[in-house]
Amino acid sequence: MKKLVFATNNQHKTEEIRLALAGKYDVLNLEDIGCLTDIPETADTFEGNATLKSRYVVEHFNLDCFADDSGLEVEALNNEPGVYSARYSGSRDSLENIQLVLKKLEGIGNRKARFKTVISLMQDGKNHIFEGVIKGTITTELSGSKGFGYDPIFQPDGYDITFAEMDMAEKNKISHRAIALEKMMTFLKGDA
Ligand code: IMP
Repeated sequence: MKKLVFATNNQHKTEEIRLALAGKYDVLNLEDIGCLTDIPETADTFEGNATLKSRYVVEHFNLDCFADDSGLEVEALNNEPGVYSARYSGSRDSLENIQLVLKKLEGIGNRKARFKTVISLMQDGKNHIFEGVIKGTITTELSGSKGFGYDPIFQPDGYDITFAEMDMAEKNKISHRAIALEKMMTFLKGDA
């Protein structure tokens, strides 16, 4: 069976993909291949960062690989925090990052935002890009305690609750990550 690396250390994410591609690909994560490096994510786009990660594995381990990069884009903030989502305030503390977004949006009427995921799949020397987007608005206050990151202030279009108030199973059906992954799965299942 063809080997495919998912450039992540998250065991739960790996298991999900492994199940979905069972019988078709042998899915390995960074730990499985002994990649202990913290792969640099120094690009200024999601696509650039995802590609840095997938290419690193191809170049150092000679295995096909996919990697994802995600973040929040707020329209009135020139699409910030974008690739800096994880440490927008200078810290990795989600609450501090949320507070900075809310502060910057104070007095601004346009609260449109979107979460975006870009996946880079390096297969047989080619880079295939898959993108997932979910549109919504930034609330004025935090609501909910589920999820992570900016979930307490992101209300997806068509819902009157935030991602942090939504059951994980439901969020995982409609999220940016789910959309991008679904596109890659469709591609991979039709392949090989
Ligand atoms: P990553 O590329 O998936 O690690 O995402 C980078 C950062 O974007 C995270 O640390 C979060 O701050 C933010 N982010 C990405 N996806 C989500 C999400 O589904 N909910 C809330 N925040 C997210």
